[in-house]
Amino acid sequence: MKTYLGVDLGTSSLKVVVAQGGKIIDSEHRSYPCAYPREGWSEQNPDDWLDAFHGVLAALAQRVDLSLAAGISFCGQMHGLVLLDEHDRVIRPAILWNDNRTTEECSYLNDVIGTDRLVSWTGNIAFTGFTAPKILWVKRHEPENFRRIRKIMLPKDYLVYQISGVFASDVSDSSGTLYFDVANRRWSEPMLSVLGIAKEQLPTVFDSFQAIGTVRPAFDARTGLGPATKVVVGGGDQAVGAIGTGTVGEGRMCISLGTSGVVFASSSKYLHVASGSMHSFCHANGGYHVMGVMLAAGGSLNWWANDILRTDDYPSLMAECAGSGADGLWFLPYINGERSPINDPHARGCFQGLNVRHGRGDLTRAVIEGICFGLCDCFESMHAIGISCDAARVIGGGAKSDFWMQMLSDVLGIRLSRIETAEGGAIGAVILAMTGCGAYPTVDAACADLIKDVGHFTPDAAAHAAYASKFQKYKALYQAIKQA
Ligand code: XUL
Repeated sequence: MKTYLGVDLGTSSLKVVVAQGGKIIDSEHRSYPCAYPREGWSEQNPDDWLDAFHGVLAALAQRVDLSLAAGISFCGQMHGLVLLDEHDRVIRPAILWNDNRTTEECSYLNDVIGTDRLVSWTGNIAFTGFTAPKILWVKRHEPENFRRIRKIMLPKDYLVYQISGVFASDVSDSSGTLYFDVANRRWSEPMLSVLGIAKEQLPTVFDSFQAIGTVRPAFDARTGLGPATKVVVGGGDQAVGAIGTGTVGEGRMCISLGTSGVVFASSSKYLHVASGSMHSFCHANGGYHVMGVMLAAGGSLNWWANDILRTDDYPSLMAECAGSGADGLWFLPYINGERSPINDPHARGCFQGLNVRHGRGDLTRAVIEGICFGLCDCFESMHAIGISCDAARVIGGGAKSDFWMQMLSDVLGIRLSRIETAEGGAIGAVILAMTGCGAYPTVDAACADLIKDVGHFTPDAAAHAAYASKFQKYKALYQAIKQA
């Protein structure tokens, strides 16, 4: 049986899974730091990713014969800006997806260039996390670094370049740059001139399941991988995670309950979102998708549990939650600003409706309900563009909690399920590697064969009706307190 490797380049760690017949037989990960040099900034050193990649492969090579791996593919944190000079040296630390320094550049792009033109050129509007405003920021604040740029790439593309020597990206990850024409699956010439960059500085773009080369000798010598191992370019973490849940084809949905929260719907056609409130991107299966991204879903609960209550005992925290409605208490989960659907980097979190009878169980319940309402806001925005689903598969840490799964099912009013493995992103990368190596004719065929769901949650009609009215107040609350 052939061996395939799936690499998940996350924000806190890099994980590699080893799979045979689509089942994970081994895995290994390494963590690396994230630097926050100023408020709202978030950076990582691409060579920390590379060291982690070498370290993980070396550890796996002790247990598995990596020289027999048929293919390797990638699932990467999106939107990060990696810049190389003429000697292929990293010019400055990568500016990550959760970095908010570019509010002025986004205002310029959305207000001066204009959202209508941005949507017609790229399918999307500017968000602080996207790559294009980061390029404008470097151009304005670090002109010397800007002049030295020879290659501009996304985080996983740095690993693809190191392992294969091919300067390549894929359609799903490139969609999150805001200089990619999503409808036509190519770089957007008008956006390149807005940014003052040239096509030669950008990678060749492939479908996420395409093999773009093999492991180059200088790399395999250090890792035990064989020169015959095919490198399949892979994709952005949301699209590849969705592949790992089998969310492919027309109108399927998955929800990610990780640090960020994502509502994701697949489509075979490009979906035009005139308002830009949802991201309209290429999918990693050759189709398209739309998604709404909440910046702090699990992140809000982690803040509440770890920083405020000083606990990481989530099951006990859930068990002591008050009853539905949190006794008239609301929580807005905008502790890092918010992306979808409100696109407001200045939005802030709050508790509303506190009274002297409220205790810790009410506040915890309000936090979890607030996260579900944030996801519901994205879910409703999907209706506005004609997508309606009555079921979704859920991945991420939150999917492990029956309590949270049932609450989300009640809030959204749809059936939810989990998938067999928690490794959505890495297994999605394995599926891309298998497809790129010809083990399956298409990504969709691989998903149909390999991905099974388990654990079903059905909405309770009365609970859904109560949440529907509370959700209207949640939306009104943001409107009432948002900064002018
Ligand atoms: C997607 C997004 C996150 C990051 C980090 O738009 O910003 O999924 O890719 O996980």
